[in-house]
Amino acid sequence: MQKKTLLATLLLLAPTLSLSQELKTADEYRAALQDKFANPGNLVVDRGEQLFKEKRGPKNTSLEKCDFGKGPGVLKGAFAELPRYFKDTDKVEDLESRIMTCMVKLQGFTPEEIKKKLFADQRANEQNTDLEAIAAYISVQSDGMKLNPPMKHPKEKEMRAVGEALFHTRMGPMDFSCATCHGQDGKRIRLQELGNYHNKADAQRTMKTWPTYRVSHGVVRNMQHRIWDCMWQMRLPDVDYASPATVALISYLTDQGRGAVLDIPGIKR
Ligand code: HEC
Repeated sequence: MQKKTLLATLLLLAPTLSLSQELKTADEYRAALQDKFANPGNLVVDRGEQLFKEKRGPKNTSLEKCDFGKGPGVLKGAFAELPRYFKDTDKVEDLESRIMTCMVKLQGFTPEEIKKKLFADQRANEQNTDLEAIAAYISVQSDGMKLNPPMKHPKEKEMRAVGEALFHTRMGPMDFSCATCHGQDGKRIRLQELGNYHNKADAQRTMKTWPTYRVSHGVVRNMQHRIWDCMWQMRLPDVDYASPATVALISYLTDQGRGAVLDIPGIKR
């Protein structure tokens, strides 16, 4: 399966690779990646659909009855309105934490089992984990829709406010906050431009293309991975997957990106 996926990926990227010899700038390289039909992330979406519909776990049930905020089993537009408050857990959940909730409640997995393997390791050439693939499938059902996370419930407002505060809190041995790298215009590290998430335009540009196929990783990454990755860059200990801190940051970023038209799965370096 892994070899097949790799082969398909190479075939799909073939036109991009031959083009790359002529590309002079990083911007041209990025533009050349934007062919939606050549996005290998589509293979992950297909696998996610199978996993979503398959009877799995100790309770031998599919995820088809999971409520992502628009009623059990309604996927269309659900991701565009996440994170949101859920009554059954009395929590604000993002896509990944909600999938985990349903894997526990409907399918009988334990959080410990799910957390054993959260991210595909690109250095080991792994394919996406089940959870990553399921997240890719669900999010794509909101492709073309505007990001519109609800911000009425007090806990939704609280999450956003905590996220904004965390974004500006300096932590770890480098004394970095998110804002150190993502709080001013025109910053970059090597060839990567760092969005200034105080600006709506930058937040929208970023948030509209996640989850995204990362060419350098060979897998689809989601926002939980991006936050974990940036916290790793800050030399912080591994942040707990789907923890309130990560959901708070995602609430803040998604609210900043409100109104962006989703174009997913995205494709990035
Ligand atoms: C040391 C600098 C640094 C810090 C601190 C940092 N990041 Fe990042 N961030 C990066 C780099 C580098 C990238 C990758 C940019 C690329 O590949 O185009 C990135 C990418 C991102 C992206 C995706 C950008 C996109 O357009 O897809 C998001 C979202 C993000 N960071 C959020 C955060 C959050 C939230 C924090 C705080 C927890 C944080 N970052 C802290 C350097 C940093």
